[in-house]
Amino acid sequence: MSNQKGGVGKSTIALNVAGALSERGNDVLLVDLDPQGYLTSGAGYKDRYTEEGTNLADALKAPNEHTVAELTIPHNEFDFLPANIGMFTLEQDLVSAMQGRKRLKMLLENVTGYDFLVVDCPPSLGLLTDNALLACENLLIPAEAEDTSIRALDLLFKQVDSLEDNFSDASINEQAIVVSNVDYPLDSEQRGMLEWFENQFSEFIPVFEVRNRAAIKRAWNNGHSIFGHEEECDMEDELLSIAAYFEDEARGDVE
Ligand SMILES: Nc1ncnc2c1ncn2[C@@H]1O[C@H](COP(=O)(O)OP(=O)(O)O)[C@@H](O)[C@H]1O
Ligand SMILES: [Mg+2]
Repeated sequence: MSNQKGGVGKSTIALNVAGALSERGNDVLLVDLDPQGYLTSGAGYKDRYTEEGTNLADALKAPNEHTVAELTIPHNEFDFLPANIGMFTLEQDLVSAMQGRKRLKMLLENVTGYDFLVVDCPPSLGLLTDNALLACENLLIPAEAEDTSIRALDLLFKQVDSLEDNFSDASINEQAIVVSNVDYPLDSEQRGMLEWFENQFSEFIPVFEVRNRAAIKRAWNNGHSIFGHEEECDMEDELLSIAAYFEDEARGDVE
C-alpha cells in the first residue's frame, strides 16, 4: 500500500485488505513499515511499538541476522509484523548502507507459510517506501477523491520509474487503485476525481472504491478489520473483490 500523501487511507486499506484476504482463506502477513506505527497501535499492539528488544528496525539493519518469525505476532485474522519507534532513525542509517533499499526484500525473501504479504508504507517517498516497492513489486495505491491526488500519483509513478532505472532486476507493477474514504453524497470535486480515476486508469488496472464508513473506523478502534469485527459493513464485498483480484494476479504470476 503506497502513496506518499498522509491520511489517504493506506493503513485502513492495508488492514482491511489483509482481513479480506484472510476471510477468503489465505494465510496473510501484515507488515507495518511506517515509523509512526499507526497500524501497529490500530491492530492493538501499542506496547510493541515502544518495547525494547529485537524489532523491525534491528531486522532491517541486519536482515541476515534476523528472521520474520521472531518478530511476528499472531493476530486472530493474520500474522502481524509491528513497527517500532526505532524506525524513525532507520532511513538515515540505511541511506549510505550497502543495499539500503533492499533490506525488506532480504528479510522477507526466506519467509514461507504465507499466501500474501501486505505492507503498509509510510507517508513519504523515502527509503522505507523504496524498500517496500522493491520487496513487494506489486503496488496497490490508496488515493482520495481530491484534486491533490493527481500530483501525488504523478510523483509516485516517477519514483517507481526511477527505482526501475536504478535496479535493473526490479519490475514494479501498479496493480490497482483504491479510491478511499469516499463520502456520499458526492461533492463536485469528488465526482470529478472519480471520473478522472476512471478515465486515467480503468483501461489498464482496476479502480476500486471504499466509502467512508463509521463501521470501518470502529473495527479499527477494536484492532480488527471489518471481517474480524462483529458489526456488518456494506464495504465487505468491495474489499473481498480486491482480495479476489490479487488472488487472480498471484495465480497469473505462478503460471
Ligand atoms: N473507509 C473509511 N471509512 C472511515 N474512515 C476512514 C476510511 N478510510 C480512512 N479513514 C480514516 O481516515 C484517516 C486516515 O486514514 P489512514 O488509513 O490512517 O491513512 P494513511 O495511512 O494513508 O495515513 C484515519 O482517521 C482513518 O480512520
Ligand atoms: Mg498510515
